[in-house]
Formats: sequence, structure tokens, C-alpha cells
Amino acid sequence: SGRQISIRVQMLDDTQEVFEVSQRAPGKALFDLVCSHLNLVEGDYFGLEFQDQRKMIVWLDLLKPILKQIRRPKNIILRFVVKFFPPDHTQLLEELTRYLFALQIKHDLACGRLTCNESSAALLVAHIVQSEIGDFDEVQCKQHLLNNKYIPEQDTLMDKIIGYHRKHVGQTPAESDYQLLEIARRLEMYGVRLHPAKDREGTRLSLAVAHSGVLVFQGHTKINAFNWSKVRKLSFKRKRFLIKLRPDLNSNCQDTLEFMMGSRDCCKVFWKICVEYHAFFRLFE
Ligand SMILES: *[C@@H]1O[C@H](CO)[C@@H](O)[C@H](O)[C@H]1NC(C)=O
Ligand SMILES: *[C@@H]1O[C@H](CO)[C@@H](O)[C@H](O)[C@H]1NC(C)=O
Repeated sequence: SGRQISIRVQMLDDTQEVFEVSQRAPGKALFDLVCSHLNLVEGDYFGLEFQDQRKMIVWLDLLKPILKQIRRPKNIILRFVVKFFPPDHTQLLEELTRYLFALQIKHDLACGRLTCNESSAALLVAHIVQSEIGDFDEVQCKQHLLNNKYIPEQDTLMDKIIGYHRKHVGQTPAESDYQLLEIARRLEMYGVRLHPAKDREGTRLSLAVAHSGVLVFQGHTKINAFNWSKVRKLSFKRKRFLIKLRPDLNSNCQDTLEFMMGSRDCCKVFWKICVEYHAFFRLFE
């Protein structure tokens, strides 16, 4: 069916692969190729993201033609990443899926997106080290930590990490991934992608979406959460992102909350991911 185009995809282990799809193929054709390359059955949790011509990070729409979304595929690297973070990783059926989630958590820790207190950070790194080098050996563990940076503040946590790694003797890589997810999913910043916004008073905040609903953050602290059950409608008008709540007789909360985002495009990108998140977890239940 016509000419082929080559598209480069960066995987969660940072390797890159080139896939060939027909010029008229929808996003799903590429996504399916990536999943079958990985032998991944539970692909639904993942997505392909890229920087579009407006310099915004967006998700490849699986239903629309690839070339309608990416004008110059030669210049673009798509990234295969986790798109939907379930509240409970025991919903994940396969070891491979948990492995890919563990890689995503490793990325989020390294770039400072997944923040947590020192004990949790040290414990998470200890599980990563166990999965990478196996049972504890002090010299080897120290060397590995010197050669690999898993979290920004790693140097100050060396002793703690070593202390935890020591306790994980006998734990297989799959068990380490499981433990990593078990700790990560309880963290406030787990799976959170911050979208900058301001409230009516001009205070800088961030909006995010989770399986449970829309979240509001100040820095890395959650200051508000709107459960899907309380949200009547999400919409945007120019730069304004609007959350219309269901009437609640027990509170004097305003009916519609308003946030300012950087541009209409920012609102639209966030709105779309909210709609997708809601649909995904509603289907799930
Ligand atoms: C660190 O955070 C975890 C998860 O939020 C919590 O369970 C734990 O009690 C905290 N530890 C300390 C020392 O604050
Ligand atoms: C949000 O809704 C879920 C069920 O959809 C419920 O389990 C949870 O307790 C609710 N959270 C709040 C803060 O109301």
C-alpha cells in the first residue's frame, strides 16, 4: 500500500529502533509494531510521545494518520513510554510489563520527576541495584553507584542505599521490579506529569491527571484533587482551563474552577490527556 516511511523510536532502555510503516498508516500501525517488537501484550498502558512542530510534547494519536501528526518523520524520534499509571501494579499481568514500568520509574527518578523522602529514594535505588548487579557485595555495590547515577542526590545517600541493598540477598530481578513498583506507587509523585498553570489569583501551580481524577500541585505537593465522580465537565477557552464540578450541597465550593495555562495549545494537550485517562480507567473498572 504505497511508499514506506522509516520512523525512529527510543525505547525505555534507551536503545533506538527504526520501524517501517506505510505512508498512510495510522499511529496504531506503528504502535503495534513497537509492541510486537517488544513481545508486549499489555501495550495499552503505553504510548508514543514526541515533540511536535509547536515544540510541545504530545502523544501520537493512534487513530490518525502518522504523517498528519508528524510532518518530517526523518527529524523526529518518538519515545515509547508509560502513558497510563494504574493505582495498583498488581493489575499488571506480565513480568515484562512490570519490567518496562520499572524502567520508567528509573527514568523518572533520575530526572527528578519522581521525588520522595530519603528513605524511599534509597530503598528504590537499592532495588534497582539489586536487579542490575544481584546480591550484595560492598565493593561492587559502591563501584556500581559511583558509575551510575540513579537519583540527583545519590552521593549523600550512599550509606543508606548500601544498607538496604545488603538486605535484599536472593531477590531476583523480577522480584526487585515488583518491590520497586510497590514502593513507587505509594509516592505522591508516582506517574505525575506536571502541566504548569496559574489560579485566578495568579499563583503558580501545576495541574496533573491520575487514574482518580484531576490533581493540583504547588511545587511537588498535592494541594487539591478532583475525583472523576465530582467532575461534571472539563473544557478550555483560549488559555483558560475549566473544571466544572457537580453541585455539592455540603460545600460552598465554586461550581467551576478556572486555571490559566501557557496557551490554548497547552490547555488542549492537557484536556486531551485528561479525557484519555478518564476513558482508560473507566474502561478498566
Ligand atoms: C517516606 O515516605 C514514605 C512514603 O510516602 C513513608 O511511608 C515514610 O514513612 C516516609 N519516611 C520518613 C522517614 O519520612
Ligand atoms: C475518589 O473516588 C474513588 C473511587 O472512584 C474512591 O475510592 C476515593 O476514595 C475517592 N477519593 C476521594 C478523595 O474522595
